[in-house]
Amino acid sequence: MALRGRRILLIIAGGIAAYKALELVRLLRAEGVGVTPVLTRAGAAFVTPLALQTLAESPVYSDLFSLTDEATIGHIQLSRAADLVVVAPATADLMAKMAAGLADDLASTLLLATDKRVLVAPAMNVRMWQHPATVANVATLRARGIAFIGPEAGEMACHEYGPGRLAEPAAILPAIAALLEDEKPLAGRHAIVTSGPTHEPIDPVRYLANRSSGRQGHAIAAALADLGARVTLVSGPVALPDPPGLTTSHVETASEMLAAVRAALPADIAVCAAAVADWRVEGIAGQKMKKTASDTPPALRLAPNPDILATLAAPGPDRPRLVIGFAAETEHVAQHAGEKRRRKGCDWILANDVSPGSGIMGGAENAVFLITDEGAETWPRMPKEALARRLAARIAATLAARPGN
Ligand code: CTP
Repeated sequence: MALRGRRILLIIAGGIAAYKALELVRLLRAEGVGVTPVLTRAGAAFVTPLALQTLAESPVYSDLFSLTDEATIGHIQLSRAADLVVVAPATADLMAKMAAGLADDLASTLLLATDKRVLVAPAMNVRMWQHPATVANVATLRARGIAFIGPEAGEMACHEYGPGRLAEPAAILPAIAALLEDEKPLAGRHAIVTSGPTHEPIDPVRYLANRSSGRQGHAIAAALADLGARVTLVSGPVALPDPPGLTTSHVETASEMLAAVRAALPADIAVCAAAVADWRVEGIAGQKMKKTASDTPPALRLAPNPDILATLAAPGPDRPRLVIGFAAETEHVAQHAGEKRRRKGCDWILANDVSPGSGIMGGAENAVFLITDEGAETWPRMPKEALARRLAARIAATLAARPGN
């Protein structure tokens, strides 16, 4: 199951079924899931914060206007830090608030503020569940993409019989896993990403380099890993930390980068974001080059470097299904990039304008044209991380749509 290392924000509303939330927390923890409990005022009448905190091994949040909680983790951040929000049990009252968009306590505020998927496990008296108001609220929430599990039919604490019982925690667990898996459309895929500049040595202390920071390539590697891909990041010398959750291979030169990329094959996806030096110095000096008595500056002889993108894109059994390159251009951006796409044989090119003053190379933002066999699309200027997420989502959608993939 796709559970280990994931994080759940668990909202526990009022009702006798709240005691089952303790069992759910225990099951989630046993699977290696991080649980942050949020207890409504009514929920706290049925389970204690101490019991929850002990089982979850996490602070329990319950107060919207808690000064200490807001100082350590604000309510907006709390709503976004999890991978999934689970409401178990959900009362008719809390679902009505969700449907109406009310935010008068911490639980309802988090549900309004979150950008994550929400799974609701209702529990209530059968008449309340079947009331037209609840039926309409459930329909509204389903239409907004909220997932439901249960309620189950059976005898209730109030001695009535019918649907209204909280789904068993053992059944809620696989529903959580299924939703988390859904968010990992690249699970089982391998992606190779090149990033950063290369350094081409002149002598033991000098090298040729360029202004690439590696920010875009590293962000793409992280975004692909977030969608579940196994990622091999092949990075030239950068000042960035290795992104967590993926394998980073550190190289200096273009030749080393190509060797590392070859060693990482096979792959489903290759994204060449590195600013690879086109040339290396021929006959690298074994010792530091010294000034000569006549002070004539030395002439550097350059030799072409291997083209990593073109090598990856060449037809053959090892060709990744989707090979994507960048085109750094200073004029006629889309036209030059379209020609580059054909010349290199890759599937997509992300073309960016790196003319002086654009602030893109080494900067925090990027603006690209995406060029595919269907034509060119303009993507607006956005932070490199946002562009990376958009590209990763596009890759996932494309691979999912291709038959045989
Ligand atoms: N690239 C590569 N290996 C190289 C050179 C470039 O993998 N030796 C990749 C880059 O990672 C990028 C794409 O090719 O994805 C385009 O690089 P760019 O420098 O913009 O184009 P060039 O091929 O160098 O063409 P030109 O210098 O003529 O613009």
